[in-house]
Amino acid sequence: MTQTLAILGGARVRSAAWPAWPQHGEPERAALARVLESGNWGGFPSPNTEARRFAASFAQFCGTPFAVPCANGTVSLTLALQAAGVPAGSEVVTTPYTFVGTASAIVAAGCVPVFADISLRDYCLDPDAVESAINARTSAVIPVHLGCSLADLERFRSLCDRRGLILVEDCAHAHGARFGDRAAGSIGDFGSFSLQSTKLLTAGEGGVVVTSDPLWEQRLQSLVNCGRKEIGYAEFPGQVLGHNARMTEWQAAIGSAQLQRFPAQQERRRENVAYFEASLEGFAGLGFLPVDPRVSARPLYQIILRYDADAFAGAARDAVIAALNAEGIPCCGDFYEPLVPRSLFALDPNTNAAARTGVDYASQRFPNAERAAFQEAVWFPHPVFLGDRSDIDDVLKALRKVRDQASRLLDWERSA
Ligand SMILES: Cc1ncc(COP(=O)(O)O)c(C=O)c1O
Repeated sequence: MTQTLAILGGARVRSAAWPAWPQHGEPERAALARVLESGNWGGFPSPNTEARRFAASFAQFCGTPFAVPCANGTVSLTLALQAAGVPAGSEVVTTPYTFVGTASAIVAAGCVPVFADISLRDYCLDPDAVESAINARTSAVIPVHLGCSLADLERFRSLCDRRGLILVEDCAHAHGARFGDRAAGSIGDFGSFSLQSTKLLTAGEGGVVVTSDPLWEQRLQSLVNCGRKEIGYAEFPGQVLGHNARMTEWQAAIGSAQLQRFPAQQERRRENVAYFEASLEGFAGLGFLPVDPRVSARPLYQIILRYDADAFAGAARDAVIAALNAEGIPCCGDFYEPLVPRSLFALDPNTNAAARTGVDYASQRFPNAERAAFQEAVWFPHPVFLGDRSDIDDVLKALRKVRDQASRLLDWERSA
């Protein structure tokens, strides 16, 4: 018998809680107690004891010689650009389909964000669009590895080498992902990670920049530490105007404990995502984005499916998402809106120096980013995949239920 859709008053498919995030236990308690008792809580002297330990583990995790912890994943992007010495006022090309931090970090580094459209294949920055956006003022490119896709690192690496540009990978979503035999973050000149609460690896807040260049590492160490040139971090010429962007010992200690948990968590996500993907094979109306064969471990931050209204009786994506949410399935469509023309990337000239440059951001349009953001993308958060197969079966059950009765959503849409 057909079950009435929950959004129309029927029983929901799923009432049980989803796996909690973040996960913690004795190792995190011990880490916090260790910092508490040490009386050494802050980031100074920099890098401090826990920060050093965390940096060493994180560098190993990414296969890079250096990792520099900092306050968060917006600051880490800014630091990467500043460590590279990109000229003030130069242009940095990035995607509009991202969190505001990607763009505000560019502004904070004294540069001008230039947006280029995404590819509808993977929803990441399109290398061809970047080629068209590059000019004599361009100094860097920041592709964002989005959801469960890695940007085309082969193209971006060769493009940046050819054009003499700095490549910063925004890996806020991509902890543990791999392109061929290299970790995300290690192919760019810099890899920038966020440890914000929802991320695959979290310390509540926090960021890390990885690099393979010893002088850039020294500049990063100085930038996070108010421009000081400490012993071991003093070989680069001149001085930089730094910030207090140090990671606290609390964050670093939690980050180390979470890094220990990461492999098992990621394996669990990988298994559940593989099961979800196999079960969705041939499911009309919702499907995974194709995985680039060069990606040997994809990011699993948010599983983004592509929606096709034709298989759902023409219902708008957001009506289907509302119906899935009513069935107890966490997912959303508006995880990101394109940063322009309207979003958190506010064009307030007092707080946004890029808005004072004369660039007409307000009239820019990015059709692919708009299509992904407003019509196609359905985002499922990673904790959904941290439980067992019965969780995924609930998601599948809800998807089938909603699709089978999608025509009823048309009435719901009209009355909403
Ligand atoms: C793609 C992307 N870039 C940058 C950031 C900024 O990280 P944070 O929130 O740690 O500043 C985030 C985090 O939300 C993000 O998702």
